[in-house]
Amino acid sequence: MSRIPVIAIDGPSASGKGTVAALVAQALGYHYLDSGALYRLTALDAQQQGVALDDAPELAQLALNLEVRFEAQQIYLRGQDVGDLLRSETCGVSASKIAAIPAVRTALLARQHAFRQPPGLVADGRDMGSVVFPDAQLKVFLTASAEERAQRRYKQLMEKEISANLADLLNDLRDRDARDSARAVAPLRQEDDAILLDTSQIGIADAVDFVLKNYELATGIQVNC
Ligand code: DC
Repeated sequence: MSRIPVIAIDGPSASGKGTVAALVAQALGYHYLDSGALYRLTALDAQQQGVALDDAPELAQLALNLEVRFEAQQIYLRGQDVGDLLRSETCGVSASKIAAIPAVRTALLARQHAFRQPPGLVADGRDMGSVVFPDAQLKVFLTASAEERAQRRYKQLMEKEISANLADLLNDLRDRDARDSARAVAPLRQEDDAILLDTSQIGIADAVDFVLKNYELATGIQVNC
């Protein structure tokens, strides 16, 4: 087992776990893994290469051979900057569908493990604490009510001047939660050894503080923030 420390932050879509995980990584000087991006990249690659979302063997091959480059805030797929395409709702829904295929999940495992580099890693997703990094030093289940998450997503889209309907967003989020929680492999759920962090009533700074304090408690590693 690796001695490189990991903080696993799992939770549903639009819970803010990505923002919190990235800020925790920054505060600690650790690497950051956005595992959802790998599922989104596989879904986008499938769309671009004309692979059907139920073609498990082909999707697993795509996942295994993703030609991806992470550079600061940019993500390149076969040399193309795909940041905006990845964040679209369509890509999120497709990612959630292919994420239910066991062969795709297995194909992405080694790629996720490769992010575990010194001095440490903060990883966010659905199964970081349960499957990918079961020996993580700290496991957090970060969530918020579906209504609050839909509101946040709506606000983000408005800020980007992308038209959206709050009721549709809420329905989509509930569908996605149901699919991610009901699947047979690595379903979304709070594990017994994960600490619950509900951000419905608190801001990002407090959520980051909560994670850092619990990390300090769990490991004794002093965090200056
Ligand atoms: O975190 P996200 O919204 O970017 O993830 C997109 C989809 O990918 C999500 O609906 C489920 C899937 N996913 C997963 O199954 N396991 C992960 N570790 C991360 C994401």
